[in-house]
Amino acid sequence: MKKVLSGIQPSGKLTLGNYIGAMKNFVKLQNDYACNFMVVDLHAITVPQEPAALREQSEAVAALFIAAGIDPDKANVYMQSHVPPHAELGWILTTLTSMGELERMTQFKDKAAGKDSVGAGLFVYPSLMAADILVYNADLVPVGEDQKQHLELTRDLAGRFNHRYGEYFTIPEPYIPEVGARIMSLDDASKKMSKSNPNPGSYIALLDTPDEIRKKISRATTDSGREVRFDPAEKPEISNLMSIFAECSGMSIAEIQNKYEGQMYGGFKKDLAEAVVSVIEPLQKRYYEIRESGELHDILQRGAEKATETASRTLSDVKERMGFLLPK
Ligand code: AQP
Repeated sequence: MKKVLSGIQPSGKLTLGNYIGAMKNFVKLQNDYACNFMVVDLHAITVPQEPAALREQSEAVAALFIAAGIDPDKANVYMQSHVPPHAELGWILTTLTSMGELERMTQFKDKAAGKDSVGAGLFVYPSLMAADILVYNADLVPVGEDQKQHLELTRDLAGRFNHRYGEYFTIPEPYIPEVGARIMSLDDASKKMSKSNPNPGSYIALLDTPDEIRKKISRATTDSGREVRFDPAEKPEISNLMSIFAECSGMSIAEIQNKYEGQMYGGFKKDLAEAVVSVIEPLQKRYYEIRESGELHDILQRGAEKATETASRTLSDVKERMGFLLPK
């Protein structure tokens, strides 16, 4: 069975974008692949995190994985920091990565832009991501547009290691999901919906109350026209809301366009809010049940134990090939 690896950073409150673009696909993938889904806390600290918030968000992301439908008996769910070989292989791969390769990463350039001080972790983060993937010899990695360049680097590093130390790593392929729109921000359709956006009105958090969701959607930016028409170039905001509607209702974009032909934005937004609430409410119910049940920590422990078994094996193989003196 092919191996899939993916993760979500506990760097804020998970958004509807994370659900549509990542978690919904994870749930499908677990039936056909051997999946590892991590809460990537070591990645989250590449930008400053407040300790209490990091702990709470980490637990929340793990519980949301399960609430969204990831079955811990089918897929491994765990915290990245509970599996130490990630960080160790990350360091080893950093030594195989050139400064030039990291300097070319557009995500680093975007995240560092305009900042007086940028942590070195943000710069070397792509090597850690490569380690996350290679430590399991994953075959497939679900990636959004913004992660493609990092996966390319992972493939280069795997090839470089194989060339220097003998064939060992599988060269991972990107997995492009059939569905799963890129969801844009509610206040600015030129930016993706992001959990670290300082304006909570820009995103729908998976744990927002139904009333908060209704309010955010009613205040979402739209153009001054009237037509509910899918046209990302001319009407990016309405098109984004239509994509969210399609993802949450199961209707196609064409069906939505027909249904709201000749109607004002108000009615469309009201129905959209109810479609979103109908997806989020049951998810929240399961989320609170999981958090109250206390079973999450056992799930995470089991996941980490299984992951560590494979990852430790890879790490000692790598060290042996590179000439490390191994402990007895
Ligand atoms: N707006 C989005 N639309 C579709 N998919 C999205 N993803 C994130 N935002 C959207 C997908 O969610 C997964 C988790 O990503 P991540 O937590 O590792 O970091 P990210 O992609 O940088 O997500 P955020 O929410 O924007 O986090 P911050 O603000 O911390 O940087 C990925 O599979 C991503 O494609």
